[in-house]
Amino acid sequence: MDKEARLRVAIQKTGRLTDHSLDLLVRCGLKYSRGKDQLLCYGENMPLDVLLMRDDDIPDLIQEDVCDLGIVGLNVVEEKRLGFLARNVAPLFEQLQALDFGRCRLAIAVPDAFRWESIESLQGLRIATTYPNLLGDWLRRVGVAAEVVTLSGAVEIAPRLGRADVICDLVSTGSTLTANHLREVVTVLESQAVLIRTPVPLPAAKETWLQRMLLRIDGVQQVKESKYILLHAPRAALPEIRRLLPGSESPTIIPLEGTPDKVAVHAVCRENVFWETLESLKAAGATALLVLPVEKMLA
Ligand code: PRP
Ligand code: ZN
Repeated sequence: MDKEARLRVAIQKTGRLTDHSLDLLVRCGLKYSRGKDQLLCYGENMPLDVLLMRDDDIPDLIQEDVCDLGIVGLNVVEEKRLGFLARNVAPLFEQLQALDFGRCRLAIAVPDAFRWESIESLQGLRIATTYPNLLGDWLRRVGVAAEVVTLSGAVEIAPRLGRADVICDLVSTGSTLTANHLREVVTVLESQAVLIRTPVPLPAAKETWLQRMLLRIDGVQQVKESKYILLHAPRAALPEIRRLLPGSESPTIIPLEGTPDKVAVHAVCRENVFWETLESLKAAGATALLVLPVEKMLA
């Protein structure tokens, strides 16, 4: 197969999205071997290669049609999109779906001793960030005039160095802020990993694989929350039990040999089954409760 026919997926090289991104592709059936330079994972069982890149470069790789798909934080996608629009360039990456990992937020954080009252407290201040477009856009929307100090990294030490009064940076666990005596005061953008693709039409074979991957990613997303549940129940308790089964459409009801008033219920629940649900099911008369993980699902 020639190189042009292989799908190229860009993911973050090292960072909070790396493991989850590779894991997602593996769950979609990808078997890969990793190149010596560690920058490319070659798909052995499908025409798909994974490029390991700096996350900030991923939208550009799609924009320049070097890669077809990308997994990257919404924060990066939005920052790039606003940047392109500001330069009158049409952004050439389409956001396909949120992937439910890599959750974090772009937030304003102030030094511990700062007297914060409201967003108005930012009026006239210098705000250090590596997200000047997102911050600028947010400041305009909330109607605050502040100076955006664009840095390329190490934003959290800017206040101590006197380069800014407060910062606007990504927060995930919050430990970076705590370590730097900063505290989060307001969220600018909620973020998580998203899938982006090129809007450029692909050769048919490539497009087919892309669509297949999208369906598989959907399947992977669905099974994460889904559980297969088995239980025994008195026939009379069925209406209540069906009501309690979270997110299940039509359960299979099987008669139990020798006990005409009892049945077995098998159901796929499209939401997580918590202990509380099991306890309620038991209280409603269910016995022999079993919850199994679902490995694959194709709707
Ligand atoms: C962000 C941010 C902080 C850290 C916060 O950087 O700049 O350094 O994460 O995470 P915490 O709240 O869990 O401490 P990131 O890892 O995204 O690196 P990058 O901006 O260089 O890609
Ligand atoms: Zn980055």
